[in-house]
Amino acid sequence: MNAFARELLRWYDHHGRKELPWQHPRSAYRVWLSEIMLQQTQVVTVLDYFQRFVERLPTLRDLADADEDTVLALWSGLGYYRRARFLHHAARLCVERHGGDLPRDLDALMALPGIGRSTAGAILAQAHGLRFPILDGNVKRVLTRYHGIEGFPGESAIEKRLWRHADEHTPDERTADYTQAIMDLGATVCVRSKPACLLCPHAATCVAHRDGLTTVLPTVKPG
Ligand code: ADE
Repeated sequence: MNAFARELLRWYDHHGRKELPWQHPRSAYRVWLSEIMLQQTQVVTVLDYFQRFVERLPTLRDLADADEDTVLALWSGLGYYRRARFLHHAARLCVERHGGDLPRDLDALMALPGIGRSTAGAILAQAHGLRFPILDGNVKRVLTRYHGIEGFPGESAIEKRLWRHADEHTPDERTADYTQAIMDLGATVCVRSKPACLLCPHAATCVAHRDGLTTVLPTVKPG
């Protein structure tokens, strides 16, 4: 395990989120649902919606069998309703293509509506402990600063570098914890404005911290 992952996991053991409702019990369906809700919404807001959703539709089959109005009503207030339609459609595709389960395969997951590479990685890592990297907005910010990468992270050459770093840091043990840890670090310590570098497990090795670049990294979108 490399130093980045080791330091991050030690931090996670003390400060990470370990009581999120999709962690207990952990299933691919619950992790998937949480990841879709969390794509544009913060954890505190998602908690109540998640609980209500899984009480009403506890399994992927229940979701596939539900009518769209039920799904949209459960989503009501969360916004970005396309996410709910994709979720519903994807559940029906899982019944058609994968016997009613989410596939355990990156390409098959990414073929479902609403699931990009990062969400697919988050599902495989958190639900099955498989070694797949993630790269959402929070993780991009962490890695951009840690490695001192200049240039807009949405640009494809930069994004490629970030995926390479995301992959090289992902450990083959404790992959689920590591995945939660890097998201937690980005959400609570390595935040966009005024990051709490004093509390960061990577403060001694982070390039942006060393060079005083935390206010300018990640580089904002050009134009
Ligand atoms: N953002 C996306 N997934 C998340 C998770 N599991 N915990 C915190 N923030 C997230």
